[in-house]
This record gives sequence, structure tokens and C-alpha cells, in this order.
Amino acid sequence: MESYCTVLSDRVKNVLDAHMTASDIIEDTKKFVYDMLDPTSERGDMLYRYEHSIRAAENAKVIARAENLPEEPLILACLLHDVGYRECDDDWRRHPFVSADIARVYLQNINYDPDMTAEMVRGIARHNLTDGIPEDMTTFQISIRDCDDIDRFDIIRTAMVMGGTVFEKTNSEIIESCEEAISNAKWLMNLPRGTKTAEILLKNNLNKRIDLLNEIIAQARKGF
Ligand SMILES: [Fe+2]
Ligand SMILES: [Fe+2]
Repeated sequence: MESYCTVLSDRVKNVLDAHMTASDIIEDTKKFVYDMLDPTSERGDMLYRYEHSIRAAENAKVIARAENLPEEPLILACLLHDVGYRECDDDWRRHPFVSADIARVYLQNINYDPDMTAEMVRGIARHNLTDGIPEDMTTFQISIRDCDDIDRFDIIRTAMVMGGTVFEKTNSEIIESCEEAISNAKWLMNLPRGTKTAEILLKNNLNKRIDLLNEIIAQARKGF
């Protein structure tokens, strides 16, 4: 099975040791992810990351049921897709690989199906790919990334992004930053998706974002 050569810290090893069995696999995996992200008071961003992982897993349930994909593995993969985030403070771009390595050890420890584990681990390692999707990337693997993206562009994230886009800016600055955000959203809308259901869910979120940005642009134009 593929390894991405992460050197696991003592903290990670301790959390892994404390989660060697899973009786209710989905609930126990949520606890594992929570302990691994460890949202202490000075790291509220890790609580956001945990809640994001739960929402990605909810998207997984919807997509798996609609598209006849293996439901439990897709939910688990989405719960685990950012599990290494706290270990990547130096460079967040490493997090798909660190998360994949931590997920691999966890799934092996709880004796999860080895073939499914390999597929989940590979999908987690690839969940940040945008263009240039490898030809051997399966629908299951792409769906992990889709579940992540659907949450990354939901209305909560739209509100977060919107703050920086408009806060204390002049009308012309607002128009410029909103136009940039629209072209970003349109680029994302055209990336390939694993399933029709993911495409619909993501388009729905992105269209809401684009509509809001267009309304803001219209109001800023009135200011001239
Ligand atoms: Fe991620
Ligand atoms: Fe994510």
C-alpha cells in the first residue's frame, strides 16, 4: 500500500495508539479525527476543520446513495481527508499526504478492508488536485475531492470569503475583487467532477455565490 513517507510525530502516534479499535466505525472515526485535530482554545481553526470534515462526510452520504458508491468507505475517507492538518502548520500544501499516511495507519490498526483502505488513502492524498487529474483517478477518489469542494463553496464559506472581498473597500475595489471571485467560481465550476450529483450540488453552491457577488457589483456600480 502506498506510503507518502510522513514521519509521524509523538503526538500523532499517541492519538493513533488511543484509537486501535472501532466498534461504531463512523462515530469512532469522528472521535479519532477530533483528537487528531485537537481543537484547543488557541486553535479554533481546528474546530472549523473538524466541522468541515463532518460536513464533507455528510456530502459523502448523499453522493454515495445517489450514485451507488460504497457509502461507509466514502464517509470515512471524507472524515479523514484533512486529519493531518494540525501537523502541517509549516506548509498546509503537505496536508493531503500527511492525512493519507495517518489515515492508512488508523485504518490498518482497526483492521479495515485492505483494498478499500488503499483506495481511500490514495483518494485522500489526491483530494487537493484541481486541473491535471491523473487518468487512473477513480470515481470514488474524485468523489472525496468533490465532497470537500462542495463544502468549501457552501454558504458559510461564501460568507467567510465575502468578508475579505468587500470589507472597507471602495466601490471600484469591490467591483474588481468581486469580478475576480466570480471568475474563480466559474473556473471551479468547469473542473471535472466524479458524479452528476456532485456536479449539481457544487453548481448550486457556486451559483449562489456568483448571484451574491453580482448583486454586490450592481450596488457598487450605483455608487459611481
Ligand atoms: Fe484538504
Ligand atoms: Fe477539506
